[in-house]
Amino acid sequence: MTNVIDTLSGLTRQLEEWRHQHHSIALIPTLGCLHDGHRALMRAAQDKADKRILSIFLNPTQFAPQEDLANYPHTPDKDKALADKEGIDVVFMPSVATMYPPDFCTQITLPELSNRLCGQHRPHHFPGVLTVVARLFQLTRPDYAVFGEKDFQQLQLIRRMTSDLALSPTIVAVPTVREADGLAVSSRNLYLSAHQRRIAPHLYTTLHHIRNRIINDKANVTDALSDAQKSLQQHGFNSIDYMTLCDETTLAPIDKPQTNARLFAAAYLGQARLIDNLALYEDH
Ligand code: PAF
Repeated sequence: MTNVIDTLSGLTRQLEEWRHQHHSIALIPTLGCLHDGHRALMRAAQDKADKRILSIFLNPTQFAPQEDLANYPHTPDKDKALADKEGIDVVFMPSVATMYPPDFCTQITLPELSNRLCGQHRPHHFPGVLTVVARLFQLTRPDYAVFGEKDFQQLQLIRRMTSDLALSPTIVAVPTVREADGLAVSSRNLYLSAHQRRIAPHLYTTLHHIRNRIINDKANVTDALSDAQKSLQQHGFNSIDYMTLCDETTLAPIDKPQTNARLFAAAYLGQARLIDNLALYEDH
């Protein structure tokens, strides 16, 4: 039975007991509204560690005032049931006051990587993510922490922060989980109407199409990206934040194929902002 903990003292007690027994620990940080993508993270964590902590914390600092914090789906009972079904040892569900005591004022920034891609359009987002993840790492001191490749920029930022600050966990990356039609599984897919849901997989199809044009047809990268943006708009996406090819380590844009190149896209379909990414070379 999963143990649900919402206090720091309860968490500390549990961690001390596990450490005393020499158990390795994996942390799976989430915002809640768990789905198959999270299930894959839970299973990857099981392959690594003796004990798994899944944190559920709808982190307010990673949402700007005009964003969807108030509407973000909140399904705690369903989440606890899923964690239990997956055999998670502890669900850590802290309150905002627990994560951010009244005098809390630290913020972690990593401008070089966070000013690109999503960070250009959501400047407040990554400082909020990094700060809460660093705090979760310090509170739990896990041996492993598991993140999805769907949020590839987030994953790279967390890797860099963990290495720069010598934080405890080894970062485990889990490939994006997709619906049968290719749409990346995401809590925000719930915002899509039935009509938009039929259009949404075009984001992934378009990334594949760009990849084929660049690799097989030797198309010019800039032309392939610009044609793809037009095609997305023709399919019904209302605006595109970015559609670009980057070096996946530095996240800097590139205009020629290279081994670690990755396609990144973020586009709006109605109210839903969908993001996706694809390695340019399949075996990379
Ligand atoms: O990817 C998420 O769900 C969140 O950004 C995270 C890593 C749990 C931090 O709040």
